[in-house]
Amino acid sequence: MHGPLPRYWLRCIGCCAEYPGSSRLYSCPRCGDLLDIVYDLGEEASRIPWLRNFESRPLGVWRYRELLPVEDHRLIVSMNEGGTRLIRCRNLERELGIREIYVKYEGDNPTGSFKDRGMTVGVTRAVEVGAETTICASTGNTSSSLAAYSARAGLKCAVLVPSQRIALGKLSQALIHGARVLAVRGNFDDCLKIVRELSRDPRFYLLNSINPFRLEGQKTAAYEIYEQLGGDVPDYLLIPIGNAGNIVAYWKGFSDLKNMGLIDALPRFMGVQAEGACPIYRAFVEGSSEIKPVENVETVATAIRIGNPVNWKRALRAVRETGGLVEAVSDDEILTAQRLLASREGVFAEPAGASPIALLMRAARSGLIERDSRVVCVATGHGLKDPDIVLRTSKNLIEVDSEMGAILRALEMAPRA
Ligand SMILES: Cc1ncc(COP(=O)(O)O)c(C=O)c1O
Ligand SMILES: [Zn+2]
Repeated sequence: MHGPLPRYWLRCIGCCAEYPGSSRLYSCPRCGDLLDIVYDLGEEASRIPWLRNFESRPLGVWRYRELLPVEDHRLIVSMNEGGTRLIRCRNLERELGIREIYVKYEGDNPTGSFKDRGMTVGVTRAVEVGAETTICASTGNTSSSLAAYSARAGLKCAVLVPSQRIALGKLSQALIHGARVLAVRGNFDDCLKIVRELSRDPRFYLLNSINPFRLEGQKTAAYEIYEQLGGDVPDYLLIPIGNAGNIVAYWKGFSDLKNMGLIDALPRFMGVQAEGACPIYRAFVEGSSEIKPVENVETVATAIRIGNPVNWKRALRAVRETGGLVEAVSDDEILTAQRLLASREGVFAEPAGASPIALLMRAARSGLIERDSRVVCVATGHGLKDPDIVLRTSKNLIEVDSEMGAILRALEMAPRA
């Protein structure tokens, strides 16, 4: 992984103040807004072997190392994240009447969600700055990923999760990887407020998506989609929104491709929220330039159960500037979509990860997405993260006696003549 290092620095998304790449900041000291990482997209970027040379540089986050903010490649903490499948869904195409449907299956990542793309960069940064303990607030997947990457890096890890509201698979990952897991009597937004406060203490290194280094890793999914489509982009990108970091990361990734002259236009960004946690949807529909945080959030898609998303500003820009939209889908629609994807395509996504399919089903019916479109849905997390929800909502587990007649009756088949 040796080679020339990218030149990068930090820029405030509000007042545009700039800071050196080496500064340890989570927000702009001048105005308090979030920070973005910017690069010279010139010479270094041209070293990336777009659309060729997959033997020496397999598809994955570090294929794009010239566009990632790392000081010393020897310190990289990696488990070969990224390089996830872009799955063509021909059965859904037939069923929904849309020309091309793909699922970018982020369940393929080492801990089963897209968070690993961000953590490989974020935890590498934690090592570079000499942090003792990584921390995050999490609806589940961030804690699984941070715990695993911190374990690998030999760092202590503390995660704050909303008590009773995180899927069991995710909780068990955080515990087995040795994190100190605090189940807070409150929601995700309460947890985030506390860890932001804690992160003023330099012993802690904060790895929520306020941290701009995480989004850098996550943007690589957009580069991969471009390469997997043979050097092209979809007409529509459907993606869940919780804290809104991932949609911003994809926006950045596709924007980079345009700025490098590799594509002419970005896909239209279709953000999906759950009806019970949809402040960005409301702001979008009202044409507002601000969001109103939602106090009492509730949805079966616990990964996106967030009422006060930190990255809302750029999420709204992403959908508005690409001619997209934000929609809110119901829990019923999410569970129906999850089942459809699993039963027609063999692809098992957790509820939040299936929410783009819920929007697609609705958009195909209403004509919002034209039949002749090419669509990519981002399935952000693996279905095994949350087996409880499937068992609670499945009717097809049948208990029978261990006897042939009973088995055939249960299968609704007559005995053989
Ligand atoms: C499976 C899954 N989907 C979607 C999201 C939302 O991502 P973001 O918070 O970056 O909007 C999360 C975040 O936890 C997640 O775990
Ligand atoms: Zn600022």
